Amino acid sequence: QTFQINTKEKREATGDLFGIFFEDINHAADGGLYAELIQNRAFEFDPIDNKKYHALYAWMPCQLDEKNGQTDAADVSLTILTDSPYTKKNPHYLRITANSAAAGVKNLGFNSGIALEGGETYHFSCYLRKIDEPVTVKACLIGKEGQIYASCELTADASDWKKYTADLKIAEGTSCTDANLALVCMTPGSVEVDFVSLFPAHTYKNRPNGLRKDLCEMLEAMHPKFIRFPGGCLVHDGQLDENARDSMYRWKNTIGPVEERPARRNNWGYNQTLGLGYYEYFQLAEDIGAEPLPVLPAAYDPHHQRKVPLDELGPWIDDALDLIEFANGDETTVWGKKRADMGHPKPFGLHYLAIGNEEVGEGFTERYPYFHKAIREKYPDIKLIGSASPFAAGGEYERGWASARECGCDLIDEHYYMNTDWMIANVDRYDNFLSSDPKVFLGEYASWGNQWENGLAEAAFMTGLEKNVHAVGLACYAPMFANVDYVNWRPDMIWFDNHQVYGSVNYYVQSMFMRHQGTHRLDFTVTEPELEQTARLLAEQKIRESAKTISGPIRVLVNEGQGVFFEVTVKNHDTGKLHRFTDCVCGTESENRAASYENAVETGVIPKDWTNYTLTMKAKETEGK
Ligand code: AHR
Repeated sequence: QTFQINTKEKREATGDLFGIFFEDINHAADGGLYAELIQNRAFEFDPIDNKKYHALYAWMPCQLDEKNGQTDAADVSLTILTDSPYTKKNPHYLRITANSAAAGVKNLGFNSGIALEGGETYHFSCYLRKIDEPVTVKACLIGKEGQIYASCELTADASDWKKYTADLKIAEGTSCTDANLALVCMTPGSVEVDFVSLFPAHTYKNRPNGLRKDLCEMLEAMHPKFIRFPGGCLVHDGQLDENARDSMYRWKNTIGPVEERPARRNNWGYNQTLGLGYYEYFQLAEDIGAEPLPVLPAAYDPHHQRKVPLDELGPWIDDALDLIEFANGDETTVWGKKRADMGHPKPFGLHYLAIGNEEVGEGFTERYPYFHKAIREKYPDIKLIGSASPFAAGGEYERGWASARECGCDLIDEHYYMNTDWMIANVDRYDNFLSSDPKVFLGEYASWGNQWENGLAEAAFMTGLEKNVHAVGLACYAPMFANVDYVNWRPDMIWFDNHQVYGSVNYYVQSMFMRHQGTHRLDFTVTEPELEQTARLLAEQKIRESAKTISGPIRVLVNEGQGVFFEVTVKNHDTGKLHRFTDCVCGTESENRAASYENAVETGVIPKDWTNYTLTMKAKETEGK
C-alpha cells in the first residue's frame, strides 16, 4: 500500500485531544499522589464496606526503650473519643494515657512504612490538648530497630486544642523506606491528639499540602492537554446526603482547611481524607500545563439507583455553577474569593465541565438537561460534557446519544475496557461518526493488560482517534495510578510504592502520542495495489455470502455473581455502516444463561432496513459484574 500525505493543507484542528484521567482508586490519592505520609492522620478511618478499617487503623502502641530501641508492648491505653473534637467534620480523636514514661503510639505510614530521604526536611504538625497536667510529647521518626532519625518535643499545655509544628531534618546519607512516626509521653499522664501530619518539604513545585514530586513529574513529562478528575465511579457512587460518610463526591467538601474536609468512604473499598481536593486538582492542572476537566455527579447514583427528585435538583445544579465561579470568578465573587483565600487569586481558567460518569438510563437523561440548561444560560462558553455508556444493553447507549444531541452537549463521555483484538479491530470505530454531532470524549479506555501487546494495540487504536478528530474531541487512558500494595483494578498506567515509581508500556504509548500532538489533521490517501484489492474484495464477498445467518443461541456458563460481556458488531454491507453495542449475561443463580440474537431484527438489535449484514460477537469473561 502507498500512503500519500498532503502536508500543505490542514484539515480539522486536533484541539486538546490527548490528556490524562486521575481517580482515587488503588490508593492513588492518600498513600499516592497526595504527599501526606501519615495514614489515618485524623483517626477517622471507618469500617466502611469491608470491616477491615477502624479509627486506630495504621496506629499501634509503642514504647521507647533504651535497651531495645522501641517495643510494641507499651504501657499505655489508647482511647478514641468523639465528645469534644477540634471540628465536628472529623469528630474522632485519640486520648493517650501513658502509665509509664516514653509510652504512646506510632503511625505505620503506607506500604512498608514512611520513606525518608537523607538531607530532606519533613514538616510535622499535630493538634494536642492536655487533660490535667501539661504533658511533654516526643515526636520521632523511628526505624524498625529503634534508631531515631529525627525528633522534637512539644508540651501540651493548653486545655483547648492547639496546633504544634516542627521541622524534622534527616541527616545526609541516611535514607530508609520503613520508618514509623512515634508520639510518646515523656512522663506518665494523659494527652489528646488529632490531625497528625508529616509532609516532605519538597513536594511538587513545593506547594503546601502538596503532591508527590516524582509522581507529578511523570505526569508533567507526558505533556497532557487536559486532566479529568476526580473519578469515575468515585464521583457518582454514594448517598444523596452530602453529610453522609458514603455520600457522593461533593466538591465543596474538598476545599478550605484540611481539618474541615470530612473523611469519606472511597467507593473502591477504603477511606479517603480529601486532603487532595478540588483546589489541589486545579493547582496540579495548572502546574502540569493541562486544562482542568472536573466531573460532577448528576444527582443520580446508578450503582444503587438513588435519584434526587427532579424538583430538588437546585443544590446540585448550584454545585456546578459555584464550581465554575470557584475556578473562574474574581475575588469579588463568593466562590472566587474562597479560591483566592486559599492562595490563588488568579482564576484557574476552567473551560470544560462533565456532568455524570459512565451513565446509563433515565436516571441520568432525565436530570442532565436541568444542569445543562442552567450552566449554558449562565456560562455559555463552558464546554459541557454529557455521558453515555457503550456497555449499556437494550439501546441505552443510543438513548444517551439522542439526549446529548437534543441538549446540545459539546462532548459526550464514553468508556470501555477491551481486549487487544477489539482495540485493533476497532481502529475505525469513529470513522462514521458525524462531525455535526457532539464530539466523543473517550474519558476512560484501556486494553486489559500492561504487556507490550497492550501498548501496541492501544497505539493502533489511538491512530484511529487522531484520524477522526472531526468526531473525537478528547481521550484519556484509565486508570492512571496504582500503588503496588493496594491494587483494586489492573491494568494501570503508572505504578508506585512509597518511594519508587515506574511507567508501564501503556504510559510510554500515551506519552508518545501526547508529546507529539500536532495542531491539525492532514489529509492522506492510501493506494492499494490491484492484487491486494482483488483479494480483499473476494474475502469480503465471502463474508457477505455467509452472512444473515446467526447460529444461536450462543450458550455460556455464567457463575453466580459473574457475567459475560459480549461485544456485538453488526456491519451493513450495503452502506458500510457499523452498529455496535455491548450485551451482558449475568449470573444471578448458578445456571446456564443464553444470549440469543435469533430475533435480532424484531428486538431492534439489527435495524429493520438492514438486509445484507454480518453480526460478530466476542465474549469476554468479567469477574463480579
Ligand atoms: O477506571 C476505573 C473505573 O472504570 C471507573 O471508576 C469507572 O468510571 C469505570 O467503570
